[in-house]
Amino acid sequence: MKPKIYVTRKLPESVITKLKTFSEVSIWNEDTPVPREVLLREVKEVDGLFCLLTEDIDKELFMHANKLKVVASMAVGFNNIDVNEATKRGIRVTNTPGVLTETTADLTFALIMATARRLVEASDYLREGKWKTWSPMQLTGQDIYGATLGMIGMGRIAQAVVKRARGFNMNIIYHNRSRKPELESKYEMEFTDLSTLLKESDFVCVLIPYSLEVHHLIGEKEIEMMKNSSILINTARGGIVDEVALYHALKNKQIWAAGLDVFEKEPVSVDYPLLNLPNVITLPHIGSASKGTRLKMANLVVENLQRVLTGESPLTAVN
Ligand code: GLV
Repeated sequence: MKPKIYVTRKLPESVITKLKTFSEVSIWNEDTPVPREVLLREVKEVDGLFCLLTEDIDKELFMHANKLKVVASMAVGFNNIDVNEATKRGIRVTNTPGVLTETTADLTFALIMATARRLVEASDYLREGKWKTWSPMQLTGQDIYGATLGMIGMGRIAQAVVKRARGFNMNIIYHNRSRKPELESKYEMEFTDLSTLLKESDFVCVLIPYSLEVHHLIGEKEIEMMKNSSILINTARGGIVDEVALYHALKNKQIWAAGLDVFEKEPVSVDYPLLNLPNVITLPHIGSASKGTRLKMANLVVENLQRVLTGESPLTAVN
């Protein structure tokens, strides 16, 4: 008998076809998240779960899952999954690192450039009929070429951002749990403590996984250390930055701008204060959203499910 898999969101037909070659598939075939009660009901009898970062894969869910062997998430970050609980129960957890690295680095760099050069504001300026003439200081931004980039985190995506930054002749400093001496010489970058990084950077770029230890790592005190001309970029997870402190800092021009692809509570609504500041570019969590990469992520999830359900090791295991 084929193993049973539950898929928590509508996916391209090619992905479902692949899943069906080795499993019996049921799907929440919508573009909105599966309601919790449906997920808890569906998970009862399945061997594998194809899930997204929008689902809470917690102890309660595991208590409903009588046969579950694998939770395969279509994301690199897995802070929505209680991995310890899964491990205790002998359930494999997999994620999708690697395939999304360059795409997420592209988006991170796009935010660096768009915030520094006020692209959204400038585009709105034109559309709103405010462009009357060329003037010397109109919509002036910050330079990227030769500026100091402070990377918080030095994992795969951060390294891919650094590669791009080298092409812009940026002076790169980084802070990370562990030093990476081989990368320091490769990319001519320096390790610093967090305070030095915040004080010296023109761009502070957050690229670490979320866990409770880094909750509000960037709060009021940290933002105060940043220069008035500096820009905060977060393409990792919302909870790492205290959004209330960030809002006040941006409103009071204590820092110059921010580029955010992630929020503490997603989705945010149109009246969310940070969305209504001119010096912030806000995006709806699209870091890995290129057609090619999203397909690669989905196919990696399929491969991980197939492997675990046929007794092999997954390609990208979390536990
Ligand atoms: C997206 O945020 C991911 O973790 O893949």
